[in-house]
Amino acid sequence: MTQVDRTREHLIATYRRKAKHYDITSRLYPAPGYPQRTQRLRAVRALGLRRGDTVVDMACGTGLNFSLLEKVVGPGGRIVGVDLTDAMLARAQARIETSGWSNVSLLQADAAGFDFPAGVNAILSTYAMTQVPECADVIAHGAKALAGGGRWAVLDLKVPGNTPGWLAQLGTATVRPFASIDQWMMRRPWETIRAAMQEELNDPAWTELFFGTAFLATGSRGRPVPMDTDGPSASAEVGG
Ligand SMILES: C[S@@+](CC[C@H](N)C(=O)[O-])C[C@H]1O[C@@H](n2cnc3c(N)ncnc32)[C@H](O)[C@@H]1O
Repeated sequence: MTQVDRTREHLIATYRRKAKHYDITSRLYPAPGYPQRTQRLRAVRALGLRRGDTVVDMACGTGLNFSLLEKVVGPGGRIVGVDLTDAMLARAQARIETSGWSNVSLLQADAAGFDFPAGVNAILSTYAMTQVPECADVIAHGAKALAGGGRWAVLDLKVPGNTPGWLAQLGTATVRPFASIDQWMMRRPWETIRAAMQEELNDPAWTELFFGTAFLATGSRGRPVPMDTDGPSASAEVGG
């Protein structure tokens, strides 16, 4: 078993333990009173979804974003929740049944190498992508699957700039019990995510939230250029 496999097994085991109480404990995440719901709302708004749209919620966990997404895509839209951990998906499934949503489907899969359905209108990932070592590849794969004008939004935690190492370590100790905090801090995955969004998407935007403890990274795929006798072909895209 490689180190990557071991880390993944550890992560799954951790979320299996957390799944049962995740909806309650996540309200204290990463600290009591943290404006997590406001941040989720902001991320969903940044997707610019319309009724009838299809959206992938990558690493959806127990589906805490689903009700926000349902409100915008409506019953004619589609939500695809993807997660690595079976126990988290079981909770998400229970939420779907309790809420009576017939347009939400779940897939158990690793974000790394996930084959995004082609032509989706948006991809969202909240509080998860910095845990995925292959996050740059995931962003690139997702970007290629987006429909013209489709949007990607990644919301996650980060270490604020200029924070002394020991303080950052203390602050993140409760948040990242499943992996080495040192590794997470040294890897600085939020920078990888920022660079990948800039590389792969049009109009990338980066917003630091709540004193730099979180970020919202967004971007879109260019719209196809309309067919024009003198212009580029219909399959070309504005700005790549
Ligand atoms: C902190 S929870 C966040 C869940 C949800 N997105 C939310 O906002 O509440 C992190 C989730 O990421 C999932 N996850 C971590 N690594 C993953 C990977 N490589 N592929 C898919 N899911 C992953 C875990 O199983 C867990 O459900």
